Amino acid sequence: MCGIVGYVGKRQAQPVLVNCLKRLEYRGYDSCGIALLGKNLEIYKDAMRIESLEKSLRPNSSHTGIGHTRWATHGKPSQKNAHPHTDCTGKIAVVHNGVIENFLQLREQLTKEGHVFSSDTDTEVIPHLIEKYYQGNLEQAVSRAIVDITGSYAFVAMHVDWRGLVVARNESPLILGIGDKEFIVASDVPAVLDYTDRVIYLEDGDIGVITENALKCTSNGKQVERAEHRIPWSMEEAQKAGHEHFMIKEIHEQPRVIRNTYKGYISALEPVVNLGISKNADISDILIIACGTSYYASLVGKHVIQSLSQIPVRVEIASEFNYSDTVLGKTWVIAVTQSGETADSLRALKKAKESGCRTLVITNVVGSTATRIADETLYITAGPEICVAATKSFIAQLTMLYLLALAWSSAGVRSRASLITELRQLPNKVQELLDREEQITEQAKYLARYENAFFVGRGINFPIALEGALKLKEISYIHAEGYPAGELKHGPFALLTPETPVVALTARDNTYDTLLANIKEIKARESPVIAVAQEGDDEIEKYVDFLIRVPRVEPVFSPVVNAVALQLLAYYTARERGCPIDTPRNLAKSVTVE
Ligand code: M6R
Repeated sequence: MCGIVGYVGKRQAQPVLVNCLKRLEYRGYDSCGIALLGKNLEIYKDAMRIESLEKSLRPNSSHTGIGHTRWATHGKPSQKNAHPHTDCTGKIAVVHNGVIENFLQLREQLTKEGHVFSSDTDTEVIPHLIEKYYQGNLEQAVSRAIVDITGSYAFVAMHVDWRGLVVARNESPLILGIGDKEFIVASDVPAVLDYTDRVIYLEDGDIGVITENALKCTSNGKQVERAEHRIPWSMEEAQKAGHEHFMIKEIHEQPRVIRNTYKGYISALEPVVNLGISKNADISDILIIACGTSYYASLVGKHVIQSLSQIPVRVEIASEFNYSDTVLGKTWVIAVTQSGETADSLRALKKAKESGCRTLVITNVVGSTATRIADETLYITAGPEICVAATKSFIAQLTMLYLLALAWSSAGVRSRASLITELRQLPNKVQELLDREEQITEQAKYLARYENAFFVGRGINFPIALEGALKLKEISYIHAEGYPAGELKHGPFALLTPETPVVALTARDNTYDTLLANIKEIKARESPVIAVAQEGDDEIEKYVDFLIRVPRVEPVFSPVVNAVALQLLAYYTARERGCPIDTPRNLAKSVTVE
């Protein structure tokens, strides 16, 4: 995720900006840059690391500047796409977080008006818009520019003829650190903590004008006061935004991640999803290849794509596909890989490409190796995931697979419209679940006492049982197996005892009654049952030992809320057992060997 910083005050800006950017490094980035205000702007950019940017800096005594670490979304990681971006005159510089959804239209319009662009980013339209509206007052130009912008942003702008900085925020975090005769602007608290623990959180629609001695904040043209807060966190606590582990922080980011992933792809005017990827009439079927958590997301994708588009879909574990004789005809091969660097998935993608298949990758990392192999790419915009256990990237993958299914859906307009409405509701539903996460701690305490567990589900929730078992085993070291609920009686029943808890996933679809029957069979073998069930499902209460309640959603979206419930269950179980949650033993975030 990008990081932004800005400084105005009594110190020399350059070392402050570099230090603030280093404090945001943990968020992940692929390029960085700073701009210092003087008679002219002095701009430095590096397509790699902050250390190498630092080496290129010349002494500069400016007391005002801005800086950025970039996590690419529009345009690959490169020096030209690194921030700060400037206008045609080179007098205005901007750093930005977020996504400008209408940047293509704006860029086209500005180009017609004579503006020349030098990057592939959405951000670059901002300095050009400010240039267009600048008449000697940067605050007014920014106020006018944001009227033209649709999307999310937190940005900092400066102009060589204007003292200080102007900042604006909509749907992307932006804070102001308040020091003694100095202000530090940042996207995240850790950036400012070396200088102050006093911060103001700007709100959506706010515009701030910052000089060495003063801060003025307006909203809708009226001056507003924003409360000052004291941050009681250490640097490490701040990087986790007050959470104990990155895993729980990332779990809590999921409502935003879902929104960011579908944003821009759903038409505001009609029930249409447009991913810019056409469903070629020549394609006979789809093969999805992936590993681990991405494989489980793909299994859910198979259900939804098949049922909405009627296209036959197979899913193969990438490392198995590499040694198989899978028949590839006019098959469209989709690789799902968070990192875009998993060796097994890369090899599978190459194999598909060599067989002449059309290839698409769904990934989180712009410019990753998979994007360079595949013909087409869809990004999931989950932001960097630091915990080894995948959580938000899984939910973002699910979101993208729903979008694919909807984009190619042969369903009628009305049912597509209602599914799209439901999809838009998902962030709120996940938030509801997260707001009640304490309900899971009791079950987690209970589960933490055991050494073996089963996770069962049916239909579209069978992959979630697999994912729930994987989450539990990798972070709590409890042996867990995911099974289709109907399969237990074909062998695993032999393991059911009072010492083997079973986590059962339910959905109010055609699998519900049989799953209830399976739960009764499990209870008859005296295994404790923890069920994940929707609010209002009173029937199930009679048969299980513990209940985890999830918000009501359309059955097709039940994997999302059920998966989040299991992430929380795994997290709190591992925490109860005192495990090193973010860095489980023997595991790596990116598996680059076959
Ligand atoms: O980067 P990828 O999505 O290709 O990674 C695949 C697996 O290594 C990954 O999903 C792994 O299973 C998770 N980190 C487990 O939580």
